[in-house]
Amino acid sequence: MTAWDDHRMVLLDKEVSGERGVLVFEAPALAEVLRPGQFLNLEAPGRLLRRPMAPAVMAGRVLVFLRARGPGTRALLDLAPGARVRALGPLGNGFPLPRGRAVLASGGTGVGPLLFLARWLSARGHEVLFLHGARDASEGFLLPYLRASGARVRFFTEDGSLGERGLPTDLLSSVLRPGDTLYAVGPEPMMAAAARAAEAMGLPAYVSLEAAMACGVGSCLSCRVELKSGPAHVCKQGPVFPAGEVFFAETPHVR
Ligand SMILES: Cc1cc2nc3c(=O)[nH]c(=O)nc-3n(C[C@H](O)[C@H](O)[C@H](O)COP(=O)(O)OP(=O)(O)OC[C@H]3O[C@@H](n4cnc5c(N)ncnc54)[C@H](O)[C@@H]3O)c2cc1C
Ligand code: FES
Repeated sequence: MTAWDDHRMVLLDKEVSGERGVLVFEAPALAEVLRPGQFLNLEAPGRLLRRPMAPAVMAGRVLVFLRARGPGTRALLDLAPGARVRALGPLGNGFPLPRGRAVLASGGTGVGPLLFLARWLSARGHEVLFLHGARDASEGFLLPYLRASGARVRFFTEDGSLGERGLPTDLLSSVLRPGDTLYAVGPEPMMAAAARAAEAMGLPAYVSLEAAMACGVGSCLSCRVELKSGPAHVCKQGPVFPAGEVFFAETPHVR
């Protein structure tokens, strides 16, 4: 695995829609070494601690898909093109390769790491089905990125205002087939539903966990989670874990 470094990223472009958006950075050395599912600890203007973000790499650019959750993510979304931020990375383990077809299910900002995985796998000849769940049509700005991933894409909104109505997980048991590998990143109830669908069919499934982080490199112990096999640090042993290892709290949570 490539050792992490403190990279400088330059904001080239951004697109913001309500509380969500995408930042497009130039960071060629970082784009070269990042792997799908890994994350960055990103400087947030005016904040002491960096914020963990799992980006996508597309066309040599580093893309961060954001939801304004608090002051750090708001400050990042407010950055103007030309801004420079530092990013510690690549951090964490990343996704393992699929056995056969890869089925990807994302919700909210979970789209970043799975978009990267879709692009990575499609470029290497894997068959990829990508299901993304959005709240409403305001996330339509994601569609060009999803379509450029090389995967077969199905886009869902909860209110039916764009694409298909419903949640990607509603569909999983009917689209999964023997030999598939499932990857799910998004709100915890969504990942829990994906884990159940894969388990019911005996398929391998992976999720990417969120935890409050400070250092991002295994030193501060703030990101400790309890897995079925014992304690783990999300920044070091994760953020990607086999879904069957995770105790899911079934509380509503928007990613
Ligand atoms: C590996 C990893 C990858 C991530 N990738 C992305 C990404 O691509 N895009 C994105 O928008 N966000 C991502 N996040 C979440 C993001 O890091 C947090 O939303 C961010 O740190 C919040 O900072 P803030 O200053 O905006 O809000 P804060 O004021 O720090 O927090 C706002 C609220 O959100 C809660 N919160 C903050 N961080 C988390 C967390 N990690 N898990 C659960 N609740 C939390 C706080 O308790 C508080 O209630 C990722 C997190 C991890 C661990
Ligand atoms: S964030 Fe410091 S140990 Fe994981």
